[in-house]
Amino acid sequence: MAETTVKERSGSQARQDELQQKALRHLWMHFTQMGRYDAENPIPIIEKADGAYVWDIHGKKYLDGLSGLFCVNAGHGRTEIGDAMAAQVRELDFVTIWSYAHPRVIELAERLAHLAPGDLNRCFFTSGGAESVESAIKLARQYHLKTGNTRKTKFIARDLAYHGTTLGALSATGLPGFRAPFEPLVPGGCHAPNTDSYRWPEGRDPLWAAEKILERIEFEDPSTVAAVILEPVQNAGGSLPPQEGYFQRVREICDEHDILLISDETICAWGRLGTMFGCQRLGYQPDIITTAKALTSAYAPMGVLLASDRIAEPFMQGNEMFGHGFTFAGHPVAAAAAMANLDVFEREDLCGHVMEKEPEFRGMLESLRDIPIVGDVRGVGFFQSIEMVKDRETKETFTEDECKWLLRDYLDVELYERALICRADDRGEPVIQLAPTLICDTEQFEEIHDVLRPVLEEASRRIGL
Ligand SMILES: Cc1ncc(COP(=O)(O)O)c(C=O)c1O
Repeated sequence: MAETTVKERSGSQARQDELQQKALRHLWMHFTQMGRYDAENPIPIIEKADGAYVWDIHGKKYLDGLSGLFCVNAGHGRTEIGDAMAAQVRELDFVTIWSYAHPRVIELAERLAHLAPGDLNRCFFTSGGAESVESAIKLARQYHLKTGNTRKTKFIARDLAYHGTTLGALSATGLPGFRAPFEPLVPGGCHAPNTDSYRWPEGRDPLWAAEKILERIEFEDPSTVAAVILEPVQNAGGSLPPQEGYFQRVREICDEHDILLISDETICAWGRLGTMFGCQRLGYQPDIITTAKALTSAYAPMGVLLASDRIAEPFMQGNEMFGHGFTFAGHPVAAAAAMANLDVFEREDLCGHVMEKEPEFRGMLESLRDIPIVGDVRGVGFFQSIEMVKDRETKETFTEDECKWLLRDYLDVELYERALICRADDRGEPVIQLAPTLICDTEQFEEIHDVLRPVLEEASRRIGL
C-alpha cells in the first residue's frame, strides 16, 4: 500500500472511529458474540482486497487463508468479474426466473450442466448454500411423492456436519449446539457418524462410517428415507476426507434402497479440491449437487442445485412443477459474475493449479508435525486442517476451559495479529482450518508456515507440552 501522510492518517483515524462506533451501535454480525466488542476491543473492519490479500481500515495487510469464507476461490480484486457485472446491469439489471428466463442464466445453466458429472443436467438456482440445501431436501421429498414413495421424507446427514442455518438445512446440520435454540426443527433430519478416523480404534474396517449410514437407514426404515446428504470432504470437524471406497459404498446403499444421494458442495466445488466438483475428485456420482459460494467466487451471492435427468423428469411433464423458489435466484448480475468467474477458472486453469500445488501446500503443513500440539494434518486440495491435541500419543484433547483459551483467547488473537486470516474452530475437536484462494503459491505457503510455526510452538509451551 502507498505510504500515507500524517494528515491523511489522522483524517482516517476520525473515519475509523466513526465506522467503529456505527458498527458497534447498528451492525449485527453473523455467528458473532457482539458483546466481545467495545471501544477497547474494536471490531475488525476490512476495507480493501487484492489477489490473496485483504487490508483493514488501518492499512494493515493480511493473507486471506480462508478465501473469505471458503468462497473467494479465484482471488480478490478481479476487475473483469466486476466489469461483466456492470455490463449486465447496463443490459438487463433484473428479471425474475419465475416464468421468465434471460440469456445469462440460460448460458450459465448450460455451462454448469457441461461441467457437472454424468447427467446432472438441470440447474435450479438459489441465492446461497442454505437455500440450495433447503431446495434439495424439498426436491427429494417431492420427487419421491411424485414417484409413489409417499413415506420417503427423512434425510440422513452426518454428525458435526454443517449444512446451513435455515430450519430445513439446520435439521440436516449435525451440530447440537446450533440446533438446540431453534427446536423444533423440520422433522426428518437423522444423523450417522462422520469419517473422522483420527480417533478410530486401530483395525476398524475402513468402511465403518459408510456401513453406519446403512445402519441408520435400516433403523429408520428404508421406506421412510428420502435422501442422504454428505459433503465430499466435511468441513466441520476439520476438513474430514472420506475413506477409500466410502462414497462408492454409500452410492450402493442409496441405490439399494431408492434413496437419493445429495452431494453438498457448498464448499467443495469450484476447484477447492482441485476439480470443478468435489465428487469428481472423489469419483462418485450424486443424484443432486448443492453448491454456492465460489460459483461466483463470492463477487455476487448465488447458489445452485444441479439435479440429474431422472430426478428432474417428473417435474418436466404437463402441469407439474417444483413449487419452490426465491426472488433473487438466477439474478442476471450474479449469473454474469458466475460466467466471468468460470472464464477465469478456465483461462488460468485454477483446478490444475490446485492439483499441482496441493502436495506443496500439504507438505508445508506436514512439516509442522514436530510441534507437540499438532495432532493431525488432513484434508484434500486447498482445504486442509490441523487438529490440535494435548498428547500426541494418546490423542487426549483439551478441557472446555483450555479449548476456550486456546482458540478464542490465544489463536484468534495471535493469528490475526500476525496477519493470517484462517479459522480456529471447535465444532468438533479444536482445529485450525486453511482454505486459501486458489491463486496461492509457494510465497503464500511460506507466509502461512512462518505464522503457524511460532504460534503453535508458543501455544504448546503455554499449554505446558
Ligand atoms: C457444506 C455447507 N452447506 C451449506 C452451507 C450454507 O451456506 P450459506 O452460508 O451460503 O447459506 C455451508 C456454509 O458454509 C456449508 O459449508
